Amino acid sequence: TAVARQNSNHRLYKSHPLTLLDITQRFRKELVTGLGRDTNTTATLKMLPTFVRSIPDGSEKGDFIALDLGGSNFRILRVKVSHEKKQTVQMESEIYDTPEDIIHGTGARLFDHVAECLGNFMEKHNIKDKKLPVGFTFSFPCQQTKLDEGFLITWTKRFKASGVEGMDVVQLLNKAIKKRGVSADIMAVVNDTVGTMMTCGFDDQRCEVGIIIGTGTNACYMEELRHIDLVEGDEGRMCVNTEWGAFGDDGRLEDIRTEFDREIDRGSLNPGSQLFEKMVSGMYMGELVRLILVKMAREGLLFEGRITPELLTKGKIETKHVSAIEKSKEGLIKAREILNKLGLEPSADDCIAVQHVCAIVSFRSASLVAATLAGILMRLKENKGASRLRTTVGIDGSLYKMHPQYARRLHKTVRRLVPDCDVRFLLSESGSGKGAAMVTAVAYRLAEQSR
Ligand code: BG6
Ligand code: GLC
Repeated sequence: TAVARQNSNHRLYKSHPLTLLDITQRFRKELVTGLGRDTNTTATLKMLPTFVRSIPDGSEKGDFIALDLGGSNFRILRVKVSHEKKQTVQMESEIYDTPEDIIHGTGARLFDHVAECLGNFMEKHNIKDKKLPVGFTFSFPCQQTKLDEGFLITWTKRFKASGVEGMDVVQLLNKAIKKRGVSADIMAVVNDTVGTMMTCGFDDQRCEVGIIIGTGTNACYMEELRHIDLVEGDEGRMCVNTEWGAFGDDGRLEDIRTEFDREIDRGSLNPGSQLFEKMVSGMYMGELVRLILVKMAREGLLFEGRITPELLTKGKIETKHVSAIEKSKEGLIKAREILNKLGLEPSADDCIAVQHVCAIVSFRSASLVAATLAGILMRLKENKGASRLRTTVGIDGSLYKMHPQYARRLHKTVRRLVPDCDVRFLLSESGSGKGAAMVTAVAYRLAEQSR
């Protein structure tokens, strides 16, 4: 019946492996260009050095605060890492609001808000006077020359606070913290992909890639230092933040972008930027589906050609709706409920067609991520000169976690594209905070040693 039909149809959504491998090859070229010193400022993949040199080795310990800003939630955590017989981690966390007027206001106001939440957190958890070292997960592209510095290159996703681009966010935050009279010290700033890789690296030493598929999408991985032109030294490895959301910003994906992708881009906060992210991530997926439904309705292919003001309203279909519609058992019922809320009266066939549209859009997303991840895996394998690669990918983000089919499709497609890699996908159960604390632990130890 409908479910069986849905499953058999899924075969049709799979992209041709040759197309995906072609995307993989384009991505690999961009990786290399991004790592080169001369081209770094103009390359679409920024390949940002993170100054994180290894995954947790089990020696980290201490009492830390982690700030997690830039995903769908702003979170503050206290992370206690102790060493009695075995390394253990205790965490307490709170979620704070980041209203639109704050993320679109002035930078000063945004950081005052972060400092205020931090102050409240410390009061609530009775750690006001402890001066705990802080690790700051900041999920945006930052230029770094050391761990406790991060110059914001450009805002992405929903954020657009003024006066922050080009500035060191550690300094901005430290200033706001001082102003509020809070006693805390930012020791490290990490991208959420890095925090995720480190969180997963705590449980699996083989972890050398971190991926986010949530509001935005991005990946980091451990690159050989000798290949990173921007950083001195040849020995060992360093984690590089690829900022793969910007893949295609130079026109390299034009042949696979659709009229819907172009429309999403035109209506976004950052037209012309993050084109890969706009085809893949949770911030845009619901809207992509809505634009397709509008076109189909206009052509009389859905709802007997009826269009409602709600269907025409930007943002009315969200990615969580796409996830609900693709549930294997109740998906069609959910489709009807969601379409009813948009003032539509869909037929049974309309519901099936809408479910197909959702599957096409989310399948494309998983396939594109599989193609770029395959590029990173091939790179790691080549760097190691191994005939087979055994590795772990740490992964997080609401789309990956909440969509009923996404993870399975992604894993399957990756295995199809890189059959000579044994990949373990490890979901970061506790977000990026634990990983940020691990980085902070190392930074704190080094700072203490040099005192
Ligand atoms: C969280 C991490 O679990 O996932 C964040 O702690 C990260 O650091 C986020 O930014 C990404 O997912 P989303 O869906 O919230 O954008
Ligand atoms: C956006 C940001 C990137 C982040 C990703 C996932 O692509 O530019 O830094 O890692 O979203 O949150």
